[in-house]
Amino acid sequence: MMNRFLPLLLIAVFYSCKKSPEISQITKKQGLITQKAMVVSAREEASKIGSDILAKGGNAFDAMAATELALAVAFPYAGNIGGGGFMVYRMHDGEIGALDYREKAPMAATKDMYLDSLGQVIPGKSTTGAMAVGVPGTIAGVFEAHKKFGILPIEAIIQPVIELAERGVIVTKKQAASIAYFKPQIEAVNANGTVLDGEWKENDTIKYPALANTLKAIMKNGRDEFYKGKTAKILATFIQSQGGVITVEDLARYEAKWREPVTFTYDDLKIISMSPPSSGGIALAQMMKMIEPYNLSEYGHNSLKAIQVITEAERRAYADRSFYLGDPDFVTVPNEKLINTDYLSKRMESFSFENATKSADVSHGKVQIIESDETTHYSIVDQYGNAIAATTTLNSGFGSKLYSNELGFFLNNEMDDFSSKPGVPNVYGLVGAEANSILPEKRMLSSMTPTIVEKNGKLLMSLGTPGGSTIITSVLQTILNVHEFGMSMQDAVDAPRFHHQWLPDEIRIEPQVFTGTLKSDLQAKGYHLNEENAPVIGKVDAILVLEDGSLEGGADKRGDDTAVGF
Ligand code: GLY
Repeated sequence: MMNRFLPLLLIAVFYSCKKSPEISQITKKQGLITQKAMVVSAREEASKIGSDILAKGGNAFDAMAATELALAVAFPYAGNIGGGGFMVYRMHDGEIGALDYREKAPMAATKDMYLDSLGQVIPGKSTTGAMAVGVPGTIAGVFEAHKKFGILPIEAIIQPVIELAERGVIVTKKQAASIAYFKPQIEAVNANGTVLDGEWKENDTIKYPALANTLKAIMKNGRDEFYKGKTAKILATFIQSQGGVITVEDLARYEAKWREPVTFTYDDLKIISMSPPSSGGIALAQMMKMIEPYNLSEYGHNSLKAIQVITEAERRAYADRSFYLGDPDFVTVPNEKLINTDYLSKRMESFSFENATKSADVSHGKVQIIESDETTHYSIVDQYGNAIAATTTLNSGFGSKLYSNELGFFLNNEMDDFSSKPGVPNVYGLVGAEANSILPEKRMLSSMTPTIVEKNGKLLMSLGTPGGSTIITSVLQTILNVHEFGMSMQDAVDAPRFHHQWLPDEIRIEPQVFTGTLKSDLQAKGYHLNEENAPVIGKVDAILVLEDGSLEGGADKRGDDTAVGF
């Protein structure tokens, strides 16, 4: 019951006693080091296009537009123009903000649209095919960011992406495996085939001529081409021909929205992360504020005690997240209350190093949410000192699997991130909350956690990751790896991760990376471990500003992720 009877004064002493190791002390393996600017993303081609834009004098927002669109070509598994995302930024002068280009429900959407006449969830309806598609936000996001902050003409940004689509993208070993894995599902949805038809092997080249043509029309006519022009008409007609309900009016009414990011402190760090409709920033704040009083660096990285503290904070944060969070334009999210320090200290009063807390004993214990794992993140720092962190998604791998041959892109299945039937498990056996129920034009709750970290008023880190519900814990552990355990950015990103999300009451651990002794010690404390269902927890892409001002990239070894810069 270590923390139960501690008065606030003692907690304050705890804070002041905490010491972070010098970053240089424990560094083992460093990622790419550059002096001025860097882009880290899931594919080298996308990072390079972003970095080239910076080298031409563009800023982080120009590079964001280029990298986001290049990922739609080079990484169609999650990169997209048929999906949506979030971006958090910090300008060189410390100004911060966030852009929400999350998909939204079409106007014809209803709370029960995925239920049958008996009120049961219809398997697959919210995950596969045209009914699963939310109104895409990516093109609106790219153009909104560029309009507000970009300095290069949009043609200079889109042209290299068009050339990449025409030239084609070389298939990596991991990409060949993922295309082969998803092939039957993609074929089942698309009677007329897709660009991915055929057997793709490592080192083959896939060309995307239809996507190149769509991008040319967007370059010529601007964002309205996608939302009000010929592309909008083709898209709405196609979705409806496949049984969906998105109309030209839905597309015409879509707007990206600027949001206030969630900000909080952790020791001498200031964390800036995504606000609702993502749950990421608030859940990250809850976890970090619950962890802050404990001396993790003294316990040691992935030590029994450190894992206990982090797990118990995760358990409590996920219980709240499931209950309270939804689209802030539709539901009242008690942001301030949820990240209040006193409230969070009380949440940790039941924690003991002796035994695991049982999730059944942690409120709010009636509902939970999980999003699927297939998303992608990129981080950018430019030569002017601006930073962005952006996470973008189709939801599942290749989204709804629905592909428009005429337009050349996959469409999201983000509608599945709503609670199809609040209080009742969805097709994955998961339960959602009322705050995230479906309404026309509402945005579905997300876990995406693009995050920027400041130290002493200066930029320290930009990071984020895919990984569904594991996104938030992956971002948390990466920040802690640098701040508490003195790791290099690359080591922090590559380090073994674990994850607890309240329900199911288990710690997911990456296979074969934790010692038998540690696992037995955790089990002896009452923790249930799941090593089978957690092959990858997050795929973090990050940039760390080193003490001499140079940049270190952390490109996750779990994927094809690559840092490029100068
Ligand atoms: N669809 C994944 C997420 O938004 O978290």
